[in-house]
Amino acid sequence: MEYNIAVIPGDGIGPEIIREARKVLNAIGKKYGHSFKYTEVLMGGVSIDATGVPLTEEALRTCQRSDSVLLGAVGGDVGKSGWYDIAPNLRPEAGLLALRKGLRLFANIRPAILFDELKSACPLREDIIGDGFDFVVIRELTGGLYFGDRWTKEIDGLRTATDTLVYNEKEIARIARQAFEIARKRRKKVCSVDKANVLDSSRLWRQVTKEVAKDYPDVELTDMLVDNCAMQIVRNPGQFDVILTENMFGDILSDEASMITGSIGMLASASLGETKLGLYEPSHGSAPDIAGRNKANPIATVLSAAMMLRYSFDLDKEADMVESAVKKVLKKGYRTIDIMSGGCTLVGTDEMGDLIAGEV
Ligand code: IPM
Ligand code: MG
Repeated sequence: MEYNIAVIPGDGIGPEIIREARKVLNAIGKKYGHSFKYTEVLMGGVSIDATGVPLTEEALRTCQRSDSVLLGAVGGDVGKSGWYDIAPNLRPEAGLLALRKGLRLFANIRPAILFDELKSACPLREDIIGDGFDFVVIRELTGGLYFGDRWTKEIDGLRTATDTLVYNEKEIARIARQAFEIARKRRKKVCSVDKANVLDSSRLWRQVTKEVAKDYPDVELTDMLVDNCAMQIVRNPGQFDVILTENMFGDILSDEASMITGSIGMLASASLGETKLGLYEPSHGSAPDIAGRNKANPIATVLSAAMMLRYSFDLDKEADMVESAVKKVLKKGYRTIDIMSGGCTLVGTDEMGDLIAGEV
């Protein structure tokens, strides 16, 4: 089969990690007889430099027409890049938000798995890690604080800023359904995370989630307040299967979840909508401080490409192959600097990509 992939290297370490993910995809293509056709698309700071905006209409259309989108990272140094001296809606991150909205990708899936080989890179105590953990954060991606109206103005002589958090029942129900569907294929537990003791939007979230749960009697639903959840993730991560939450809470909790897997450089993500077209990106940022120095960990991007094979192309066998290639390389003791520990072999970004492609 032929698959058309829009690739967005983006800023900072983006181009390096994307290059390694393409190596691995090409190895899969060769082995299983698929052809992956890549169309490079500009987004973020590089797009601002070239076109004046973080995502052009044409770039968005290219993504819409492709079978899926693979993204590195966007954004730069606030002080140095010059990309932050312009209006907020023209900054690099606005490109990413416009892409998510333009592709209608309301479900962001971020799996947090502790690989046995990385136990020593996990900052949690051994008795807390126990038998390890394997959970997934399902984050609503096109609503909430990120997309509500916002304004800054002077009120009574004081500069005053407002952001609004809006959810309607339809938006909550469709992301809840995603979470229940995914839980069905896992350990059948959904923990819905909110701030229902304070926020109206959370109280509606809780109600609607309970209504949707009636269609999934085989899946257990629990609720948890977000502050407690932040604590439980580092107290007993093994208790979670699927964490379902709104946009902003999901942004924060998924960074926390990534850290306990050993490094934010390990956490893949998939953003999905109603169709097969998805956006696949590592959960980490563009790390401008290490860009171009062959230090970045490409594994989160490689694992995001594996999610693309699984969710957008239904190539489960191929996705399994990528994941097991990553495990094999880790088992052999190869590490990038962020996950390095004693007795292992330190490798750069490109060598890590070669090793994983080699295992495929
Ligand atoms: C993420 C990132 C983005 C977000 C930023 C870059 C806008 O932190 O994908 O988690 O907040 O969604
Ligand atoms: Mg984030």
